[in-house]
Amino acid sequence: MAITQSPKKQSTAEGAEDDQDLSNECKELILSLPKEKGWRTRHIYLFQGFWCQPKEIQSVLSFQRHFQAQDSDIVLSTIPKSGTTWLKALAFAIANRDKHPISQKKSHPLLTSNPHDLVPFFEYKVYASNDLPDLSKFPQPRIFGTHIPFPALAEPVKSSQCKIVYICRNPFDTFVSSWIYLNKVKPDSLPVLQLEEAFEMYCNGAMGYGPFWNHMLGYWNESLKRPDKVMFLKYEEMKADIVSHLKKLAIFLGYPFSVQEEKDGVVEDLAELCSFEKMKELEVNKSGKSIMNFENKNLFRKAEIGDWVNYLSPPMAERLSKVLEEKLSGSGLTFKAAKRA
Ligand code: A3P
Repeated sequence: MAITQSPKKQSTAEGAEDDQDLSNECKELILSLPKEKGWRTRHIYLFQGFWCQPKEIQSVLSFQRHFQAQDSDIVLSTIPKSGTTWLKALAFAIANRDKHPISQKKSHPLLTSNPHDLVPFFEYKVYASNDLPDLSKFPQPRIFGTHIPFPALAEPVKSSQCKIVYICRNPFDTFVSSWIYLNKVKPDSLPVLQLEEAFEMYCNGAMGYGPFWNHMLGYWNESLKRPDKVMFLKYEEMKADIVSHLKKLAIFLGYPFSVQEEKDGVVEDLAELCSFEKMKELEVNKSGKSIMNFENKNLFRKAEIGDWVNYLSPPMAERLSKVLEEKLSGSGLTFKAAKRA
């Protein structure tokens, strides 16, 4: 990883507002913000219209002030637990085919590195430290990940020619995936968040980077306005037909598959390299740690569509359906997978 950062400021998984890492500016700002109970930190704060943790606020401010985009950059955006890890793997594999041909089945970086180490988050890695990163040696094309909502992206990301890809997952499964994940990575000092309470918070919009509907609609609307700039993908549709989505994604990113590559089965091989089944079994993903020192194994759970039926009662499902109806109505954004069998 070619980002130079001070090792002393490594984020910890302690989670509680361990505010000695925060700048005075950030500490003061936080005092003025609305706050709610957090999922894996004591509190989350409403900052620039979305809910986040204190350390994230500091990183977002640094990113907004300092990031200079290049037209060749690729920014992958998601709300947590929507397929971030998968999208990072796919985009990295597509855009680095010249350096790392998919046919090199034994030496591809995705076999020994977690996608979050190959495609760093702005807020958890690149701008996580108080020291500014040196991005001059960052491997080209530069690919970054983020959970930051569209309106809060650094201006150069929006105004340059760089590409933004957003992956969205049905909120039923996203909620369940988030609840399970956050209870696994939360610090021991915080109590386990019960399903019903987490669900209430989710439906009220108070979860990391939420409200989720604003997050989705920000990127959705921008993808309608500027389809050459923002590509909007759906997790369920990608799972149903990965090959055709990969071809579209590669064209969008400016790395289309050649006729020969298609004939040689490169698209299928790339899909397999990044598949849940393959990635889950890799040593790096079974025993390594990537984002904020959290164990990689927790990033690979079931990857099933509709697993929510095992967790949400019919009234809960009805409640979330109503939230979706109300918040997404008229936008054209819909989800297929939200049905009880
Ligand atoms: P489940 O918890 O439903 O299993 P994120 O990467 O944004 O944190 O999202 C995590 C979800 O994506 C988890 O869902 C995880 O299992 C699933 N996932 C991880 N790797 C995947 C892959 N290669 N393909 C499809 N889904 C994947």
